[in-house]
Amino acid sequence: MKSLLKLAVQKSGRLSTDSMNLLEDSRFIFPDYSDQLKITASNFPLEVYFLRADDIPRFVSKGVVDIGIVGENTVIERNEPILLHKHLDFGKCRLSIAIPEDQRYEGIQDVYGKRIATSYPNTLSNYLKENKIIADIEMMNGSVELAVEIGISDIICDIVSSGNTLRLNNLKEVEVILNSEALLIGNKFLSEEKQSILEKFIFKIGYKWVYVWGEI
Ligand code: PRP
Repeated sequence: MKSLLKLAVQKSGRLSTDSMNLLEDSRFIFPDYSDQLKITASNFPLEVYFLRADDIPRFVSKGVVDIGIVGENTVIERNEPILLHKHLDFGKCRLSIAIPEDQRYEGIQDVYGKRIATSYPNTLSNYLKENKIIADIEMMNGSVELAVEIGISDIICDIVSSGNTLRLNNLKEVEVILNSEALLIGNKFLSEEKQSILEKFIFKIGYKWVYVWGEI
């Protein structure tokens, strides 16, 4: 049986719609996929798995899937041994430290001794070490912008895109820890057959704008 290239995309969240738009604009054809966890393209040897973003780097590194579309923020936080194939130019956001809007901020030294809530403990801890800052990291899996109000932390470190969630929670961004966008990542040990399918896949997604413009 011929191999299928297995691609993981985020099931729901900031990258899911743009990931599927990229595939459809690149002329991969799928059956109706609402509520599906796995779909197969009808015109290319490609299977798409809908997974939680946090699981994608590990599943790619273990070879459960061959490639994945996931945010740079997640790739850096998970630090798995994977290959980076392509920056995808969507899903742009940043991981930032934010503090209550009425507090003064003069520099990273103001973070010293603070309790910081985050879903990105590894990335934050590395950043604090590089800046020789000692602080307490409080892990939260979501709704981090509520941490100060509910008394879990003094400040937060979370994803910022438009900045609306910070504003709505009376917080202000004071330090950008990293800039992020969607990446195409891959397993390091693909068979020759899968490698050849992957090259065709990358060619198709790389040339999507040529296809779109060609139609107008
Ligand atoms: C992130 C972050 C904020 C929001 C910020 O959540 O946790 O809640 O985006 O975006 P904004 O600056 O445009 O308001 P995300 O949607 O990535 O999902 P998450 O809850 O899984 O972190």
